[in-house]
Amino acid sequence: MQAAADIAQSYLGTKHKVIQPEIKHTMDGRTMKALVWFAPHDVRVVDVPVPDVAEPDDVIVRVTGTTICGSDLHLYHGEIMALQKGDILGHEFMGKVEKVGPNVKNLEVGQRVVASFQMACGTCEYCQKKLSAFCNNANKSSMQNYMYGQRDAGFFGYSHFTGGILGGQAEYVRVPKGPVNLLPIPDDVTDEQALYLSDVLPTSYHAVVDTGVEAGDVVGIWGLGPIGQCVARWAMIKGAKRVIGIDTIARRLALAEKAGVEVIDFNTDTDVVKKIYELVPKGLDVAIDCGSFHEPKSLAHKIQKTLMLETDVPETINEMLVAVRKLGRCGIIAAYAGYANGVNLGALMEKGIRLVGNGQASVHKYWEEILNDYIVPGKFDPTFMISHRVPLEDMAKLYEAFNTRRAGVEKVFVETDNSSPSSPGCPKTTRVDQWGY
Ligand SMILES: NC(=O)c1ccc[n+]([C@@H]2O[C@H](COP(=O)([O-])OP(=O)(O)OC[C@H]3O[C@@H](n4cnc5c(N)ncnc54)[C@H](O)[C@@H]3O)[C@@H](O)[C@H]2O)c1
Ligand SMILES: [Zn+2]
Ligand SMILES: [Zn+2]
Repeated sequence: MQAAADIAQSYLGTKHKVIQPEIKHTMDGRTMKALVWFAPHDVRVVDVPVPDVAEPDDVIVRVTGTTICGSDLHLYHGEIMALQKGDILGHEFMGKVEKVGPNVKNLEVGQRVVASFQMACGTCEYCQKKLSAFCNNANKSSMQNYMYGQRDAGFFGYSHFTGGILGGQAEYVRVPKGPVNLLPIPDDVTDEQALYLSDVLPTSYHAVVDTGVEAGDVVGIWGLGPIGQCVARWAMIKGAKRVIGIDTIARRLALAEKAGVEVIDFNTDTDVVKKIYELVPKGLDVAIDCGSFHEPKSLAHKIQKTLMLETDVPETINEMLVAVRKLGRCGIIAAYAGYANGVNLGALMEKGIRLVGNGQASVHKYWEEILNDYIVPGKFDPTFMISHRVPLEDMAKLYEAFNTRRAGVEKVFVETDNSSPSSPGCPKTTRVDQWGY
């Protein structure tokens, strides 16, 4: 699939953009460690040149915290188009400002910052409204333009389909348009509290805010990974009366139950929709897809996906469309990429369902609010989801362990030689080889 995508991309040419993905290296020959994609299921930590400022708005960040996301597994499986051998992955990272370009006035060398997973220009019509996920100017992929008619913003470390910008699972990262894509972190917020402002926190918040969860709602959540766990907590903060979570991983079900979620194990209750109607006879007000489309349940979709007759699987979406009440809202935050067969369009149309809360989350719209209104006053502590801390040199092994969800791995704080020691109450450093099964 990657070779075909490369051929199609070079045939289509590239779209205009103001952010250049090409990087410049420091002239002193310094190298750094970075996680590099070679092929599906083959990622490696290798030494690569340290990036330098290439454009006047660039900031070079010395990484002090990075991580792996459920979305990285789509890359690991080769499910996202236009990955190239040599791409550095990673889109959630934070660190200290190492060097700034001449146009950068609001950031100082040494300042602690967190990066937005998407890279946006800060000036286009979407950016002016802080809708950074939809920036017009940061992604040159004509293939995305061809498939979707338009293009999203660029994403760090997420293939040439999303701009080909090198990622944050590295010791140093070049952040184009640094003043808009980096958020300064107050001294009293720890690295573990700040890191997830890159992605998980704005993503889960967006799913709840954009589907309009309000007091008295009954909310169903498919998938209780880090995103689903945070969605459940935000839904309660926004006043949901009941939250129902669907998954099959025992410890994820237990973690959600501890937070007050009513849980359904889809391997025990195989008819999820029937179970939901037993619990909520009038149907859900809101359904949110926080799952992963690479795990089809039915034989029909296993076959269609294997034969590449569909890239994505609509099983969760169909369950949501049937389980919501008439005029209910369905939101898709799970990162689908292409086509799925057999979507229940009848239910969508006839029940007047609102499909909202989709899209990549616009980090710039939400991150200051989450930091100032929830993290600083202690109303939302993201460290509940951190299960492990490992050094960057273990990153390739971490992909393997994360893919099989070994040893209870949830969100991981990945440290570099520049990280501070772990904060009180957060996991201490371990090596992936020492983890059990
Ligand atoms: N839109 C965005 O801005 C954005 C950002 C980050 C992540 N994401 C996406 O959000 C999704 C969740 O991320 P995560 O890090 O929590 O992923 P994850 O892989 O850790 O969790 C997904 C969970 O879904 C469960 N699941 C799989 N099939 C299911 C089904 N049929 N019914 C119910 N549950 C099912 C799995 O058991 C797993 O626990 C991923 O698809 C990820 O790509 C989107
Ligand atoms: Zn992510
Ligand atoms: Zn823009």
